[in-house]
Amino acid sequence: MRAAITGVQGYVPDYVLTNKELESMVDTNDEWITTRTGIKERRILKGEGLATSDMGQRIVEGLLEKTGTHPDEVELVLCATVTGDMVFPDTANTICHKCGIKNAFGFDINAACSGFLFALTTGAKFVESGMHKKVIVLGIDKMSSIIDYTDRTTCVIFGDGGGGVLLEPSEEEGFVDADLHGDGSGREYLHMKAGGSLLPSSEETVKNRQHFVYQEGKSVFKQAVNGMANSVKTILNRNHLDKDDINWLVPHQANMRIINTVASSLDFPIEKVMINIEKYGNTTAGTLPLCLWEWEPKLKKGDNIILTAFGGGFTWGSVLITWAYDA
Ligand code: UT7
Repeated sequence: MRAAITGVQGYVPDYVLTNKELESMVDTNDEWITTRTGIKERRILKGEGLATSDMGQRIVEGLLEKTGTHPDEVELVLCATVTGDMVFPDTANTICHKCGIKNAFGFDINAACSGFLFALTTGAKFVESGMHKKVIVLGIDKMSSIIDYTDRTTCVIFGDGGGGVLLEPSEEEGFVDADLHGDGSGREYLHMKAGGSLLPSSEETVKNRQHFVYQEGKSVFKQAVNGMANSVKTILNRNHLDKDDINWLVPHQANMRIINTVASSLDFPIEKVMINIEKYGNTTAGTLPLCLWEWEPKLKKGDNIILTAFGGGFTWGSVLITWAYDA
């Protein structure tokens, strides 16, 4: 028994934050952002009281409609995110509540940019084991809620959005293999300092601007390239596949230079790499499902697809799937 993706849906908020607008907020310019990251614009979720679960609601409602699934049929909802509505409870259950999903359990997976890979693998195992027949896997982040818009080294990179897939049992195509990793020593390079049990929120932490993403970009960059490229190679070798057997590579959208370096170190043609970083920036757990959603019309039953990511933790890895349907 395999777990096949039988539908994919994405969502990005309407508000477009352009490089031009960022020029008026911090000391940066379109040329630097474009050449150093490949990003031209990103989406921002604006509006009082709107959170990650509201994007999740749009994604799940679209997914249910598109796949002809009734909310009562859904058995499990996994939400990969680092920007849940609240520190607790989890956001997956809030999304279920907002979508009228009453017969499911759910939980969040916190693995930063690799979150969707970790959640997809977890969801697939519940289907492969025969325990559940309809599992929704989401990757969504409202990064604007933890970005310091006075810090030019991070605010130009991140955006809001995400997507999700429905997993169902299949005897043919579906989830094939995963190569997943973690290294907690990477925490020092990419984290949010306050608001957790280590340094609870206080007047002091707010004053010191410690509730925002802290990133040492250069260190993360190097490890991201090696982590993603090595993990794709592991997947290829283990499954006796050559790069030419792969129809699409779906890399985490963190930096166009990282994507180019990974593709060239694998000698992988760039036309077969899904890239939308110029429009959405880095949406953390959202980038991979957003790519699948945008490319869905081009995907064919039987396509071999490798998804790969690297992010906070450090966490990283790759997943090999065979696509289960023609658009
Ligand atoms: O998704 C989770 C994983 N995250 C990643 O994979 C991100 C990995 N890292 C990166 O993508 C890149 O390291 C960044 C895009 C974050 C930064 O690019 P970089 O080429 O590594 O730049 P840098 O940090 O070495 O900075 C180079 C220069 C510095 O100026 P000086 O010290 O040389 O005078 C920065 O202050 O560029 C400056 N700089 C900027 N200049 C204009 C940094 N940010 C900006 C900016 N606009 N927005």
